Amino acid sequence: MNIKESIESVRKLFRTDSDPFPIDYQAVETLRIKYLGRKGLVAGLFSRMNDVSDKERPIAGKLLNEIKQEISSVFNSQTGSSKSREKSHGESDYSLPGLTFPVGHVHPLQQTMDDIKSIFMNIGFSVAYGPEIDDDFHNFGALNFPPEHPARDMQDTFFIDSETVLRTHTSNVQIHLMEEKDPPLRYIIPGRVYRNEAISFKSYCLFHQVEGLYVDKNVSFADQKGILEYFVKRMFGANTKMRFRPSYFPFTEPSAEVDIWSEKRSQWLEILGCGMVDPEVFKSVDIDTDIWHGFAFGMGIERICMLKYGIDDIRLLYQGDMRFLEQF
Ligand code: DAH
Repeated sequence: MNIKESIESVRKLFRTDSDPFPIDYQAVETLRIKYLGRKGLVAGLFSRMNDVSDKERPIAGKLLNEIKQEISSVFNSQTGSSKSREKSHGESDYSLPGLTFPVGHVHPLQQTMDDIKSIFMNIGFSVAYGPEIDDDFHNFGALNFPPEHPARDMQDTFFIDSETVLRTHTSNVQIHLMEEKDPPLRYIIPGRVYRNEAISFKSYCLFHQVEGLYVDKNVSFADQKGILEYFVKRMFGANTKMRFRPSYFPFTEPSAEVDIWSEKRSQWLEILGCGMVDPEVFKSVDIDTDIWHGFAFGMGIERICMLKYGIDDIRLLYQGDMRFLEQF
């Protein structure tokens, strides 16, 4: 093995030996002596410098310093200052700081989901879940998507067979809820959804939504406005400027989208879709439209999370990179 290969193999060995980093003092010292001791592996590498050719010496020297630095810094960050520990020569030094354990983080997506859930639960919504693999009826048909609607197209939908899809939105659970329970209903439905889209900084093949469904006797668009205004102010701050913009969804009539104003970007940003439940939808689940009215809304969690925390690439939420996650 030449010196470069030996350095690499010591580095690999150290990564295995130090993950997880030992907890008790004696084991930490054993590990330190194995690598950084006077006769340790790093010292062994240094002693081979004599055999290295003049040409290779500067590079080998640099690599050696790097690995020494790398290993020392793991000890330093895991145990506090190494110098003060060495001074104690293995005797207990009660003035030393304790060993720090790595602590996990709540993922920013989970944090956003939890925040949304708690806001709606505070105003009387319950939480429901539904299937991620569903039939055409629940994902499209009962939601008043005509058979030729482009959302059913192969480009957007992952089909399992001609009748079965990975749900493209959480709206499918509106149908399940109304089939299973009698109104009044007041639910939010968090969950994962799938779309067959090109992956980029702004879209991913899976993401999360929170759906809302409110069905009762005298429900109006004004009720929906009140509830969504409350949500926006709680989620983004009491001074957030928002607007309802007319829109279209097959399962709501009238429909709207909600935008919030971003001072930083000087532009309106869309955060959710909503509307009054279309009578066609009520008919498909046998709810009497003379008695019951309702509204529904749906929002993308990734989008809200990215706006709230200033994240500019959706893929960061799916890569498990600790340098990113540890910022939350
Ligand atoms: N399902 C819609 C989507 O995936 C979002 C949505 C819009 C849900 C309006 C709703 C709604 O319940 O009323 O883009």
